[in-house]
Amino acid sequence: MNIILLGPPGAGKGTQARHLVETRNMIQLSTGDMLREAKTSGSEMGQRVAEVMARGDLVTDEIVIGLIHEKLAGDNAGGFIFDGFPRTLAQADALGDLLQEVGETLEAVVEMRVDDDALVNRITGRSTCSGCGEVYHDVTKPEPSDGKCTRCGKSDFTRRADDNEDSLRQRLMEYYKKTSPLIGYYHAKGTLRSVDGLAAIEAVQTSIAKVLDN
Ligand code: AP5
Repeated sequence: MNIILLGPPGAGKGTQARHLVETRNMIQLSTGDMLREAKTSGSEMGQRVAEVMARGDLVTDEIVIGLIHEKLAGDNAGGFIFDGFPRTLAQADALGDLLQEVGETLEAVVEMRVDDDALVNRITGRSTCSGCGEVYHDVTKPEPSDGKCTRCGKSDFTRRADDNEDSLRQRLMEYYKKTSPLIGYYHAKGTLRSVDGLAAIEAVQTSIAKVLDN
């Protein structure tokens, strides 16, 4: 089963994707994570996108479609979770073509509905374990009091360069201008399902499980 998690920055896509990886053996394909890895590795492409990402703008379709193309050739035991991709109509069309090329289909697009006011708190309170990528939040999922990640035991937590109010404003603008049209696109294709992304993390997990099991 291949699915897309669709929603604005801070909707909880990464948090839910990680849960699906653990519980359903699915493969998370996060273009944001891939781009951040490219930045850290110091590759030429990573350097090119660093500024774009810090500003909160979208990276070119060509780059992200190329990243996804490479990954689709790999193992797909439990199905792919597309997290943060597609983000434009051109990317959505390309994903359809790429899936067809590898003999796969898209079963569901899960729209995570949230309101903008909640996103500022979620984004500015986020930290991530640099060892395993586990996502924490100052209020809703604080880093463990012994300072060690509950998943991998490392004690190095980072905050993203684009997790500030200015970048978030631009990321939201990009979302409404370029990504939200995908809601209509997938509705028309009959694959769109919506869940309440404002509910507690476990409640959102349950809603998504219901979508996948139906
Ligand atoms: P990307 O990394 O994809 O970031 P994003 O879409 O802005 O989404 P986030 O990762 O910020 O949020 P999330 O929905 O995963 O929320 P999370 O689970 O972490 O993209 C970054 C940049 O890369 C883009 O701006 C762009 O420049 C570039 N890029 C990436 N893909 C691209 C593409 N396809 N095309 C072009 N450019 C691309 O949760 C957030 C916080 O809230 C956490 O602290 C978490 O603990 C907390 N939380 C989560 N769920 C809940 C809940 N239910 N209740 C309370 N708290 C919660």
